[in-house]
Amino acid sequence: MDITFLLNGETVELADVDPTATLLDWLREDRGLTGTKEGCNEGDCGACTIMVTDEDGAKALNSCILFLPQLHGKAVRTVEGASGPNGEAHPVQQAMVDLHGSQCGFCTPGFVMSMVAGHATGATDHDTQLAGNLCRCTGYAPIIRAAQAAEDQPVPVWVKDKPVASPSSPPMLPTSSDALATVYADHPEATLVAGATDVGLWVTKQLRDLDPVIFLNRCDDLKQITITDRELRFGAMVDMNRMGDALVDLHPSYAEMIRRYASVQVRHAATVGGNIANGSPIGDNPPALIALDATLHLRRGDTRRQLPLEEFFLDYGKQDRVPGEFVEAVSFPRQADRLKCYKLSKRFDQDISAVCGCFNITVSDGTVTQARIAFGGMAGIPKRATHVETAIIGKPWTHATVKAALPRFAEDFAPLTDMRASATYRLETAQALLERYFHEDQGDVTNVLEVTA
Ligand SMILES: Cc1cc2nc3c(=O)[nH]c(=O)nc-3n(C[C@H](O)[C@H](O)[C@H](O)COP(=O)(O)OP(=O)(O)OC[C@H]3O[C@@H](n4cnc5c(N)ncnc54)[C@H](O)[C@@H]3O)c2cc1C
Ligand code: FES
Ligand code: FES
Repeated sequence: MDITFLLNGETVELADVDPTATLLDWLREDRGLTGTKEGCNEGDCGACTIMVTDEDGAKALNSCILFLPQLHGKAVRTVEGASGPNGEAHPVQQAMVDLHGSQCGFCTPGFVMSMVAGHATGATDHDTQLAGNLCRCTGYAPIIRAAQAAEDQPVPVWVKDKPVASPSSPPMLPTSSDALATVYADHPEATLVAGATDVGLWVTKQLRDLDPVIFLNRCDDLKQITITDRELRFGAMVDMNRMGDALVDLHPSYAEMIRRYASVQVRHAATVGGNIANGSPIGDNPPALIALDATLHLRRGDTRRQLPLEEFFLDYGKQDRVPGEFVEAVSFPRQADRLKCYKLSKRFDQDISAVCGCFNITVSDGTVTQARIAFGGMAGIPKRATHVETAIIGKPWTHATVKAALPRFAEDFAPLTDMRASATYRLETAQALLERYFHEDQGDVTNVLEVTA
């Protein structure tokens, strides 16, 4: 595969690249740009953060789980390119020096590049911007102060990258869903790569050889978000940051859950299509989407079909998808917001759910008229609590009804014990979340911080 991109302002043309070579390895081993560090090699620590500029603007990404072909047509800036051509420090670098933000050379380049990308986009929520960068010696306070100090400084001209103008695309980098449908129908054995936040780890951790590979990131029509009076529709390639932004007003609880999805870097890469297609029982989007009665849109060649999202998940590791078929979009009816999403994980940021419960319950004249309750982390697939739903529909929306429904969770779920949580914790927590939803709906204080304030 032949690709073209900008690296620190210079055009790079690579012929016949290994489709699963990571940007991090290539930077360090082929280009000698060792400022970008390898920490975890799985998207968790941010030591490998670089800035990528494409048609949507600048963004921080983890180079350890970014394959070279994903960069075709884009502009990459590493920490070596953060300072100016005559050695001028970038404002965030100067602030890190002035405010003692750096204690080691390992995490600092990644922090600096997250800050450079945040500075370029005017980000002021530095806790969120830097949640994907780990410092093992708890040096966060001076780093945050440095990010704040640089806010008012202009963006240096040398980091204002522009993507490469319309380079031609090889077949395995299709530029539309039509082209994707054709090449995937011809190569149904291929691995699809969307954001590579799962597939990247198959390569860096499981050392799998993937060939052939089809990259979806140039299919712009799969990145569309359509919101009408009747429905919301998200193309498969909508990334988590854009998805969260689109939901802030319509379903704020869902948007807040997405804010806790991994880190800025991972959210820039991870797509809603990948989060569904991977069939994970602990992906954050499926329970929320199932609670919203979402429809999945699949395509193989010229044949399209759609099905309720919950029917896509057949069993652990098994989905209703035939070879050569891909996720085109997911849609759900527009409704007045009554959705609450609760993500429980050991860490607030940058952690996968142990249990994720999503509740969408309608009450009319004091009676429950409709209920869709879906969970991640409670079974081998994302799954509805249909027995609990049946137990409350048609009943008065009272604490007595909620209490009477709690034992039904054991009929819906027989959760596993694993490193994230025990079966008992999961079952009791699911019950507690229904109680919490009820109390929040009644306007009761459920946040311990508010109780003690
Ligand atoms: C550090 C880290 C933190 C994470 N935190 C979270 C978290 O908090 N919550 C969470 O839910 N997940 C989390 N994940 C998991 C991961 O981000 C998600 O599963 C992600 O949504 C996958 O999307 P992707 O675009 O990166 O998919 P990819 O890795 O590109 O692909 C995943 C799978 O889906 C297939 N696929 C992708 N797109 C399509 C399509 N359109 N049609 C058919 N098949 C397709 C691929 O072939 C592959 O099998 C985390 C991952 C990392 C590395
Ligand atoms: S090396 Fe840790 S996120 Fe890339
Ligand atoms: S300063 Fe690098 S790990 Fe803390």
